[in-house]
Amino acid sequence: MTQQRPIGIFDSGVGGTSIWKEITHVLPHEDTIYLADSKYAPYGKRSKEEILALSIKNTEKLLELNCKIIIVACNTATTNAIKELRATYDVPFIGIEPAIKPAAIHTKTKKVGVLATKGTLSSELFAKTSDLYARNIEVIEVIGTGLVELIEAGLINSPEMFSLLKSYLDPMLDQNIDYLVLGCSHYPYLIPTLEKILSDKVTIIDSGEAVARQTKAILASNNILNTTSQKGTHQLFTNENVYTLQSLLTSNTNITYTINTLDF
Ligand code: SIN
Repeated sequence: MTQQRPIGIFDSGVGGTSIWKEITHVLPHEDTIYLADSKYAPYGKRSKEEILALSIKNTEKLLELNCKIIIVACNTATTNAIKELRATYDVPFIGIEPAIKPAAIHTKTKKVGVLATKGTLSSELFAKTSDLYARNIEVIEVIGTGLVELIEAGLINSPEMFSLLKSYLDPMLDQNIDYLVLGCSHYPYLIPTLEKILSDKVTIIDSGEAVARQTKAILASNNILNTTSQKGTHQLFTNENVYTLQSLLTSNTNITYTINTLDF
């Protein structure tokens, strides 16, 4: 039965687990399969063609593993590849985009910061979203060069991370932003450090919960919600070593899951 098939999630690496965690909270009866494509991270520096090829590779692996819906838990892959994925495969796809809309609605200073990868900020989809929702405000875009690499290396709370983030955020603070949009699914793991740097006048927005709610709505409208009363099972796979994923999740979740390596 389609309803009982797992939800597939992929990301360029470990960061998309910030979305996966929200999915398991909002949809506790769903089984999930997560692919961390850490071998090819970061996607943010790659060409659109490379990002598309990697997204197709991950999608095909998730379909081979019998997934009923695919969540592209990576902003860079969403903004560069989701249109083509939707046109090619007949399962529903959920993407993740920088949450500019709520920031644009609520900003008082009319200045909003967006921290994302080069691949996301230079994409057509990001430009369209920004034009649509942020016409009357100033969007200060900063490329988070090096942040994904440090997270993938397990250096989330390192002094290098603190100084890199400070160098990206100080110019935004000088320009008086009151909202910071996190445009990469890796970045929610940086929130404790971001909060140390930003004044409490700046609200941080990430897309995890909205993506989980949207996934639930799409499963329901396609009549493929898992309606059993059992708790879902969760399998995570990485094509690199399991240690970064393991240590990230050990300190950030109490969900029961397995982590294994897989060639994809
Ligand atoms: C990356 O792989 O460069 C970042 C992933 C993202 O954009 O969410």
